[in-house]
Amino acid sequence: PLVPTGELVTEAAAAGRAVAAFNVITLEHAEAVAAAAEEAGLPAVLQISQNAVAYHGHRLGPIAAATGAVARCSTAPLALHLDHADSWELVEAAPAEGFGSVMYDASRLNAEENLRRTAEAVRFGHAHGLWVEAELGRIGGKPGEPPLDAHAPGVRTDPAEAAAYVKETGVDALAVAVGSSHAMTERTAALDHTLIAALRSAVPVPLVLHGSSGVPDEELAHAVRSGMTKINIGTALNQAFTSALTTHLTDHPDPRPYLSLARAAVRGRAHHFLTVLSGV
Ligand code: G3H
Ligand code: ZN
Repeated sequence: PLVPTGELVTEAAAAGRAVAAFNVITLEHAEAVAAAAEEAGLPAVLQISQNAVAYHGHRLGPIAAATGAVARCSTAPLALHLDHADSWELVEAAPAEGFGSVMYDASRLNAEENLRRTAEAVRFGHAHGLWVEAELGRIGGKPGEPPLDAHAPGVRTDPAEAAAYVKETGVDALAVAVGSSHAMTERTAALDHTLIAALRSAVPVPLVLHGSSGVPDEELAHAVRSGMTKINIGTALNQAFTSALTTHLTDHPDPRPYLSLARAAVRGRAHHFLTVLSGV
């Protein structure tokens, strides 16, 4: 069933567990994650980024409706989250499209503007039943950033600043920069577990790890034990998707056989992450 994101994350935080949040680009991604969650007997978050919406012709409706329908049909508890949105229009559209939560991403702005706009997003979100995540610090490797910046360690989140930011904005969860970076194709990121523990004690809301594809399994498990609750995974599923296709494309004009392979590969990879995170 489709469940509220806040419910999944709050329950996980209270139990010292983590929730895996997987990025959905196509219907096959959503189907694969739902199948993996059912197989693992675990909940998961299906998240659609602003960037994925751009891929679908800047239309939120079709991919959100399809992903929401996959969640409703599933026997696993699945939440629908709008990821990395800085478009106010998208945030405003989210409640009617079935989202239980949004990540309002003002991390490119200076601290003062980030705080002001995020507080506004929280006011809107809470008035419309949305759980709101935001980012403080800069997690590198986002689309559109200069390549040189891509996997730089970024500006780490300061615990005292994070505590004040959460208090002033009213956000329900905080994405923090602790050594991970987006779009890594090798799992070589080293996390700052001392910083995670310091953030955990300073910040009263669940913490979110972005760029988790680049983090090795043992580091992910350690991060959960240190206090991270929502673990965002995108690139690793796309690697599974694409490598399942590359050997199969020549002489196979019908997309269904190869999309089935891609979907099965994503299902396997999502199942792997779910079991790593549940074994902590
Ligand atoms: O918000 C999405 C995640 O941070 C995914 O990052 O593609 O590097 O796993 P990733
Ligand atoms: Zn992210």
